[in-house]
Amino acid sequence: MTSYGFASGLDHASIMETADRVAWTVDGVFGGRRFDASKPMVPTSWVGTEALAFLEAGDQLVLNHCRAFSYVHLLGNYEEFIPLHLGDAMEKSGHDDDLQPPSLVRFGQQERKHQALFRRAESVLEESCGHRFARYFDRDKTRVVELTTAILRRPLLSRFLILLALEWGTQRHYVESVKEPGAEALYVDVLKAHWIEEAQHTKWDTLEIARLAAESSIGELEDAFDHVLEIGQLIDATFAGQVESEIETLQRVSGRTFSDDEAVALRDALHRSMSAIVAGVGLTHPSFAKVARELSQQGAARVGIGR
Ligand SMILES: [Fe+2]
Ligand SMILES: [Fe+2]
Repeated sequence: MTSYGFASGLDHASIMETADRVAWTVDGVFGGRRFDASKPMVPTSWVGTEALAFLEAGDQLVLNHCRAFSYVHLLGNYEEFIPLHLGDAMEKSGHDDDLQPPSLVRFGQQERKHQALFRRAESVLEESCGHRFARYFDRDKTRVVELTTAILRRPLLSRFLILLALEWGTQRHYVESVKEPGAEALYVDVLKAHWIEEAQHTKWDTLEIARLAAESSIGELEDAFDHVLEIGQLIDATFAGQVESEIETLQRVSGRTFSDDEAVALRDALHRSMSAIVAGVGLTHPSFAKVARELSQQGAARVGIGR
């Protein structure tokens, strides 16, 4: 069995111990608070529209709130596939570690709690801002079921890899937002709570990646990255859909209309920043790059990770 340097020093018992120690509740995170809608909630760089001169200060603020909403809306829906994926991983594993099943059960329970955290954030954002936000994922769950089903068709290893990238991304989200001057306290606390538990998930993912990789051929390791790219394309389609929702919300709240050229420039800027903050931050995270390179230099190169 191959042992991977990136998994050295990790074990289920100590990860579980930390998970118990840092656990939180959704009520505890919110503490009855609302978001302060008089100021931006996420870093300006998360929106990426500063250079668009046709937007007024009020439009920029609405767009910032839209992006704060989009983040919790998208992540809450992306996390739907995780408990099913983890169930699949448990079923297909040899159970050579007794602590693997309870660890993955805990992991899945935490993701369900995160979905509740993000749903609460969606509704508190709407109350705090005094308006509704348009959503890409419908309440009947048609779109999230489609996305989840499509992701679950991919090999386990590629699913753990995309998950690892997204989870390392949540560290950057918290760190960037807390550094922003005048950061919105409740939004930072939501990101912080999420990252505190995601920190354990990155370790559990890493152990599962090492286990699956040890059973894979060189070709399978390389191919896993093609599947990562294809899952990335599925996720990119949700970025495009949620960007349309952001523009719809801005137009409804501000009463603005845009020329065709302005609409194109706005759509491009919002899509670029969405892709950078949700996908780019994870795929370029040094901890993800380290795992990717050790698995397959060729595969890592396909997702843009050099030697
Ligand atoms: Fe999560
Ligand atoms: Fe997670």
